[in-house]
Amino acid sequence: MKSVLDVAAIKADFPIFEQSMRGGKRLVFLDSGATSQKPRSVIEAESNFYYTSNAAVHRGSYLLAERASEAFDGARSDVAEFLGVDSEEIIFTKSATESLNILAYAFGNPRSARCVGPGDEIVLSELEHHANLIPWQELAKRTGAVLKWFSVQEDGSLDLSNISSVITEKCKIVAITHQSNVLGSIPNIAPIISATHAVGALFVLDACQSVPHMPVAPRELGIDFLAFSGHKALGPTGVGVLWGKSDLLDGMQPMLFGGSMIDSVTMTDATWADAPKRFEAGVPNMAQAVGLAAGLKYLQSVGLEKIHEWELQLTKRALDGLREIADVKILGPQSLEQRGGVISFVIDGLHPHDVGQVMDQFGVAVRTGHHCAWPLIRKLGVSGTTRASFYLYNDMSDVDVLLESVTAARDYFRKR
Ligand code: ALA
Repeated sequence: MKSVLDVAAIKADFPIFEQSMRGGKRLVFLDSGATSQKPRSVIEAESNFYYTSNAAVHRGSYLLAERASEAFDGARSDVAEFLGVDSEEIIFTKSATESLNILAYAFGNPRSARCVGPGDEIVLSELEHHANLIPWQELAKRTGAVLKWFSVQEDGSLDLSNISSVITEKCKIVAITHQSNVLGSIPNIAPIISATHAVGALFVLDACQSVPHMPVAPRELGIDFLAFSGHKALGPTGVGVLWGKSDLLDGMQPMLFGGSMIDSVTMTDATWADAPKRFEAGVPNMAQAVGLAAGLKYLQSVGLEKIHEWELQLTKRALDGLREIADVKILGPQSLEQRGGVISFVIDGLHPHDVGQVMDQFGVAVRTGHHCAWPLIRKLGVSGTTRASFYLYNDMSDVDVLLESVTAARDYFRKR
């Protein structure tokens, strides 16, 4: 089958693949769900900022300050263009985790235009990563709001049969993942978004596992907020994005206070600038934002639709191969319907960490454990899983090594 991507050419853009792993094995990186590798263009964009443009943005009137401000503002425009939204709706944070915490903080502050109170309901799902669970738990504890959630079914989809009893008139916020970081399943969010808006609530999308891997357009989805992390989208660590509709953002109280985020300040009081500034206190993560913009440009140059299609081809081969290996159980979606390129599996009787260690001997990097999603792992009835996640730099030979290493792990422990 002809590949939709020229993976050899893509791989050559990622310097990390030039080295060997243990025993001289090549790197088979199947942990992009945790963090992606970086193309040379991202590494250079970040370091070039320090070589040529480093100064605190929006503060000085000298040449370097102008360059830094142009680069940082340009990065914001690039992220906005990538998502098909306006620049002033893009807030640079340090991570998606911070983006979600900003929202949960704002909705607990009575001085925000929209705020939850005792008895109000916040709706989540059992698929959520801790980053889209704990901030809402804490908000509920602070305000007396009530947490509700959609249950996950065996195929990794959400049970929406009780949607009208989960999302009621008391609901104020619904926060759901766009793709499970554990199972790869893509929940059917369209009816959830409609039900959310029908009761006047707001919809937050945790897009950490979708924005780097498929086209995502917040306006077309009809959502209110979206969060994603830069480092999973070829960008550097230390930068995340919060997108929100301007009118909503301008009514929200910030979580961090200091320079840059103010409108005016006296000894006893202060007022806030409009978004995005009000949420970006202090000297921002300039080089990281510039690096992220370079990462998104790289993704656009390859094509998000092609990347998604390629990841599904890799996933199909991996699912077919894993099914052939005795004692292996694949968790979540068994087909290519409503899923991305993330596969969790267990080998009967073996601990995922042991499995991962044998796979490492083959140069295979996978994540093992609970994947920051304890409630989901408990629901699945396992102590953890081994998770392989694909990206644009993986090819079919990577899947072959994955299968070889899983077989070896199974055989190694079975013989003992
Ligand atoms: N959230 C990342 C993962 O799923 C770290 O691995």
